[in-house]
Amino acid sequence: MLARFRKNIEAMSGYVPGEQPQGGAYIKLNTNENPYPPSPRVVAAVKKAAGSALRLYPEPMGRDVRALAASIYGLAPNNVLVGNGSDELLSIIVRAFVGAGDRVLYPEPTYTLYDTLVAIQEGVKAALPYAADFSLPEQFFTEKAALTFVCNPNSPSGTLLPVSDIERLARSSGGAVVVDEAYIDFSDANATAIPLLKEFPNLIVLRTFSKSFSLAGVRVGLALAPEEIIAGLVKIKDSYNVNRLSQIAAAAALGDLPWMERSVGRIQRSRKRLIGGLKKLGFHVYPSQANFVLARRQGQNLRGLYEELKRRKILVRYFDQPGLEDCLRITVGAPAEVRALLDRLAAIIKG
Ligand SMILES: Cc1ncc(COP(=O)(O)O)c(C=O)c1O
Repeated sequence: MLARFRKNIEAMSGYVPGEQPQGGAYIKLNTNENPYPPSPRVVAAVKKAAGSALRLYPEPMGRDVRALAASIYGLAPNNVLVGNGSDELLSIIVRAFVGAGDRVLYPEPTYTLYDTLVAIQEGVKAALPYAADFSLPEQFFTEKAALTFVCNPNSPSGTLLPVSDIERLARSSGGAVVVDEAYIDFSDANATAIPLLKEFPNLIVLRTFSKSFSLAGVRVGLALAPEEIIAGLVKIKDSYNVNRLSQIAAAAALGDLPWMERSVGRIQRSRKRLIGGLKKLGFHVYPSQANFVLARRQGQNLRGLYEELKRRKILVRYFDQPGLEDCLRITVGAPAEVRALLDRLAAIIKG
């Protein structure tokens, strides 16, 4: 082949997203989407905007989203960067802070996209295992790294670290610290690291519209950080990274927070029922503060159970990686979806 990939690209396998079957045949509990629709205000605003203005480029910085987000989170617009999903922001951040040989620290298991992004940059993955209860091992606070990731609540465990851990890390890491808060709206406690942004010049908080705002299809995320960090990230982003319709959708969603809060409340109630049902079926379930749960059958490979569920038209997430083969990650669906999952699981297990 004439076109030669860089060696690290050749060697890496690439991120594998959860299955996205097109069509409605499955109960989809595998990629942590929201079972409820976005605010009707979002749909109305997008329909209204889907006109001749689409010939024009979008506002480069997502000005309206930026201003609204800043006022909601108690920040200035210069503390906000709007991205094409938080995945784009993760990619921009890794490109900004990680060169060949730079260490990137994170506790595992966690969101595996971090691995891919570090490999693209030829960075050095310096991952440490979570403790058995998904707390941070003490060693985590003594390591130095160019960039540290903490996913909070964590995926796939759903567990939440206290803000005091984030504060300790921001002090100890010696580099940039990213708190990926994709799922924080689903936590019962107010555990966001946003108030720390005023104190720590190296801290970045990531949010997404994909989960609590039911907008995975429009791809919008936010990076919240001190002004100097945002200014550096802006140098890297594409000029028009968030399209017109997505900006309109995100701004409308921020204009209807009660809609998001209602849907979060329903999911929190379903989460309780899902956890209770799974425990009755003999699973160990980690205390989730997200819109999914990690359910374990100690020492039993659950690939077969995942496949049985798929045959019965329910998709959940099975991770073929060491330490997670005896787990399934299950998104909290609407009540009828939770019931269907528990019924079919019971039928298979008691089979
Ligand atoms: C921990 C975590 N961070 C980020 C993302 C990406 O979110 P987005 O849809 O905003 O790119 C996900 C998506 O599943 C996630 O689980």
